[in-house]
Amino acid sequence: MIELDGTGCKVAVFVCTNERSPDKSCCKKVGGMEFYQALKQKVKESQLQHSHWISRSGCLGFCNDKGTAVVIFKSNHTPKWFNEVTSQQTEEIWKEIIS
Ligand code: FES
Repeated sequence: MIELDGTGCKVAVFVCTNERSPDKSCCKKVGGMEFYQALKQKVKESQLQHSHWISRSGCLGFCNDKGTAVVIFKSNHTPKWFNEVTSQQTEEIWKEIIS
């Protein structure tokens, strides 16, 4: 095992893009991948990709039929969890990420 130097990471965001069986709710069905891609684009446009890491995740345990689950980790802050996030909340989540 090698311990990594993660001091360059100021914000880590996980967006659920998980897909479940057709009869079950999941973030892939409610735009999780599109939301993830939109945040990746914003971080790239803002040139924050070296300090603000946006990652896809598997199921975060909040599956629903309305929107994806998102968690934001910042240094020295309590993680912020959001659920039922849709593309209409992209700016709102982005403000949480960069604030
Ligand atoms: S599939 Fe996203 S929280 Fe379960």
